[in-house]
Amino acid sequence: MTTHLPGTDRAETERLRGHIAEVLERARKRTIGLTDCLDEAELVAQHSRIMSPLVWDLAHIGNQEELWLVRDVGGREPVRADIDELYDAFKHARANRPSLPLLSPTEARSYVGTVREKVWDVLERSTLRGGDLEADGFAFGMIAQHEQQHDETMLATHQLRTGDAVLSAPPTPPSRVRVRGEVVIPAGEFTMGTDTDLWALDNERPAHLVHVPGFAIDAAPVTNEQYLEFIADGGYDRPELWSRAGWAHRVEADLTAPQFWERDGGGRWWRRGFGTMTPVRPRQPVVHVCWFEAEAYANWAGKRLPTEAEWEKAARFDPRTGASQRYPWGDDEPSELTANLGQRHLEPADIGAYPAGASPTGVHQLIGDVWEWTASGFDPYPNFRAFPYREYSEVFFGGDYRVLRGGSFGADAVASRGTFRNWDHPIRRQIFSGFRLARDLRAEER
Ligand code: AVJ
Ligand code: FE
Repeated sequence: MTTHLPGTDRAETERLRGHIAEVLERARKRTIGLTDCLDEAELVAQHSRIMSPLVWDLAHIGNQEELWLVRDVGGREPVRADIDELYDAFKHARANRPSLPLLSPTEARSYVGTVREKVWDVLERSTLRGGDLEADGFAFGMIAQHEQQHDETMLATHQLRTGDAVLSAPPTPPSRVRVRGEVVIPAGEFTMGTDTDLWALDNERPAHLVHVPGFAIDAAPVTNEQYLEFIADGGYDRPELWSRAGWAHRVEADLTAPQFWERDGGGRWWRRGFGTMTPVRPRQPVVHVCWFEAEAYANWAGKRLPTEAEWEKAARFDPRTGASQRYPWGDDEPSELTANLGQRHLEPADIGAYPAGASPTGVHQLIGDVWEWTASGFDPYPNFRAFPYREYSEVFFGGDYRVLRGGSFGADAVASRGTFRNWDHPIRRQIFSGFRLARDLRAEER
């Protein structure tokens, strides 16, 4: 699914159709798993003012699928034209969504099921060629990514919710190799973004050459153990480590540790996750920190966050060929040996758990585990073209958003790759966000 296939090959088209069915099924299985485990009251409740009730996400997933696949690609009659406005994310702020006349959980389940039945028929009949939207199954891929992105958002709502655990997953794999220090990436051009990835979203396009000055990047994300040193060294009480806006937020929100951390009477740190309390694990990437916390930590450590171009070069550039790969390990789809993705586990894995997922230059865990904050704002690449709708990316360009890269344990493989761009406000930390550090090269390293 990584390169353009000759459009005449029937077997390839049927393989693509099978792949589309598989990713749509996988997304739906996950959506159902995230909603069937809670009762009616929990589905309509607002667990946090910055999140939607889960039943809103559920019907919104169905509504986007109806708009793009049933009506647009399929040219069919609307299933429920009367509810478009309720599930338009731009019409109602999250805080107001619980008071809307939303579909009940039962109605929402039946709605998404009806839409999906029609989509199977649309998929069966699509040539998967021709018009921009249908070519290479793009619209289907876009909708699978949309559902998975909302599934990750729903997972974040689960993390915010208090009460007994309802989700479970096997433990993360153990560390298999020692990963330390940093990797030097010499100055030079690389190809950023893509024209060939069939389902890359508009903001990942087009491919373009970027000259990146030499830099050093950490071989692993910042761990809990490292972050604890920052806390112990007074990191949260030293305004000089924070930017002006960061310190104002630190004071106003009373930040003292990553979200969901608690310290017991004996001074021991615990982390609440999906209804369970576990001791903070030293070699696990820190998660649930905002951009301002990442910035303060970087200042404390005498380093900085990587730019988006640096992050992507570390993740994709193979110095042996001079080409950009789809993933750090090459072009193969992610597997359980290369990346912690897809809610297979409910937390990041320890550093060194994915040696097979390292880049050619030895940078580990770029994909999966935690979304990594970068220094960069969310802006279009040169010659950006909004496709197929301005509201996916374009309306967010130029705000106070910061770009996150790589995907978390809660991101599915269909919505994670070396070019994939996520973004959020610098104060956000209910997302599965961590970071790694970079720095300029010293004169003698250049
Ligand atoms: C790209 C994750 C920031 O969740 O707001 C979902 C994805 N866009 N529905 C978001 C998205 C429309 C988006 N992020
Ligand atoms: Fe959406």
